[in-house]
Amino acid sequence: MAIVTGAARGIGAATAIRLAADGFAVAVVDLEESAGKDTVEKITAAGGRALAVGADVSNAEQVAAAVERVAAELGAPTVLVNNAGVLRDNLLFKMTELDWDTVMNVHLKGAFLMSKAVQKHMVDAGYGRIVNLSSSSALGNRGQANYSAAKAGLRASPRPWPRNSASSASPPTRSPPASSPPT
Ligand SMILES: NC(=O)c1ccc[n+]([C@@H]2O[C@H](COP(=O)([O-])OP(=O)(O)OC[C@H]3O[C@@H](n4cnc5c(N)ncnc54)[C@H](O)[C@@H]3O)[C@@H](O)[C@H]2O)c1
Repeated sequence: MAIVTGAARGIGAATAIRLAADGFAVAVVDLEESAGKDTVEKITAAGGRALAVGADVSNAEQVAAAVERVAAELGAPTVLVNNAGVLRDNLLFKMTELDWDTVMNVHLKGAFLMSKAVQKHMVDAGYGRIVNLSSSSALGNRGQANYSAAKAGLRASPRPWPRNSASSASPPTRSPPASSPPT
C-alpha cells in the first residue's frame, strides 16, 4: 500500500488517484481528515481502496499515529510520497523566522518524520520506495529562500537514508537522482 501526503488536492491528489489505478491501496494524508474525502471518493468510485487520514506531517506524534492507523487499516506501507507542501514566499528582508520555520518544518522535517515512521514497515517487507517532491526552485528563486533551501534539502536527504535502515543489506528506499527533471 502507498501513503501520499498532502493528497487532499493538487499533485498529491493526482498521485494518489494514479497509484490507486495502478492497484495500490492508498492513504490520503492531509492536515484534516475531512479534506481527503474527495480524493478517497474518487478512488473508491473507480473501484480502488483508500483511507483519509488527518495529520500534520511536521508533528511527530500525529505522524506516528497516522502511520500506525494506516498500517492497521490498509496494511504495511511500502510506498511513501512526501508531497505535502506550503509556500511562505517573501524577499529575504521581509521573510519572518516563522516563514522560514514553517516551510522547513512541512517540507523537510515532514519528509523526515514520515520516512522514519514508514521505514520499519519497509524493512519488514524487504521492499520500499520513498519519493520526495522537489522543485526547480531548489536551484534558487527570488523570494523563495526558505522554499529553495527546503527543496534542495529534499533532493539531498534521501541519499543517506537507505544506509540508515535497520538492514543495510537491502536498501529499503530509493529516490530519483538529483539530476531528475524538476517536478
Ligand atoms: N504546483 C507546482 O507548480 C509545483 C512545482 C514544483 C513542486 N511542487 C511541489 O509539489 C507538492 C504539491 O504541490 P501542489 O501545488 O499540489 O500543492 P497544494 O498547495 O495544492 O497542496 C498541498 C497539500 O499539502 C497539504 N499540507 C500542507 N501542509 C501540510 C502539513 N503540515 N501536513 C499535511 N499536509 C499538509 C495541504 O493541505 C494541501 O492539501 C509540494 O511539495 C510543492 O512544493 C509544486
